[in-house]
Amino acid sequence: MDLTSLGIVRKQGKLYTTSQYRDSVYGEDVRKSDGFYFREWEPKRSKVAAAILKRFDNLPFHRDSRILYLGASTGTTVSHLSDICNAGQIFAIEKAYDPFVKLLSLSQRRNNIYPILEDAGIPGRYRFFVERAEIIYQDVAQRNQVQIFNANAEAFPEAREALLILKIRAISSKGNEEDILKTETGKIEGFSTMQVINLNPYSKANYMLYLKRK
Ligand SMILES: C[S@@+](CC[C@H](N)C(=O)[O-])C[C@H]1O[C@@H](n2cnc3c(N)ncnc32)[C@H](O)[C@@H]1O
Repeated sequence: MDLTSLGIVRKQGKLYTTSQYRDSVYGEDVRKSDGFYFREWEPKRSKVAAAILKRFDNLPFHRDSRILYLGASTGTTVSHLSDICNAGQIFAIEKAYDPFVKLLSLSQRRNNIYPILEDAGIPGRYRFFVERAEIIYQDVAQRNQVQIFNANAEAFPEAREALLILKIRAISSKGNEEDILKTETGKIEGFSTMQVINLNPYSKANYMLYLKRK
């Protein structure tokens, strides 16, 4: 995977995204070099960064990707995807009002983030606003995570790839992690699981699944 062509830089064990914006979104270090800004991408704060450091080699993003992002929160990961997909669009769904206010503010400072205050479990409510999503990214701490994913996979048939974060302890506080992972993966509809990354130690009991439409 060619990270450099996406402006992702790895230096002294740290990851950075190349940004046209100088602001720090969540307290991350921002450096300037040769006329560009480099924002440190913290793996404990963003699961995509954690996955890259854990040798995830199927990053589906391109400069012009159109992403449906479910569970955007205040926009930590969204901001880095906004750097990477600088010619694309990120439709960021968040249902909680407090983080949404920060997400909204972030979107006003950048031109490729479209925040939507909605419940990811009811895609019919935002289907109309999301144009030709190519990739679904989901990171919601809900017991019915896979059901939410399946609903969106059905509502957005144009999305051919997906990154699904499976948050094991949101599904069950007890039980064997691997067994729960296997059971939940088996419930995914319409997509094949191509790669599974355990995000430990950056993010405990959380897995990133790279999925491709069947
Ligand atoms: C772990 S945080 C996401 C962090 C974010 N993805 C990042 O890396 O910057 C999970 C978010 O999902 C949101 N969420 C949970 N259930 C949701 C739902 N049904 N629809 C939309 N957002 C939801 C929560 O409010 C929370 O902000």
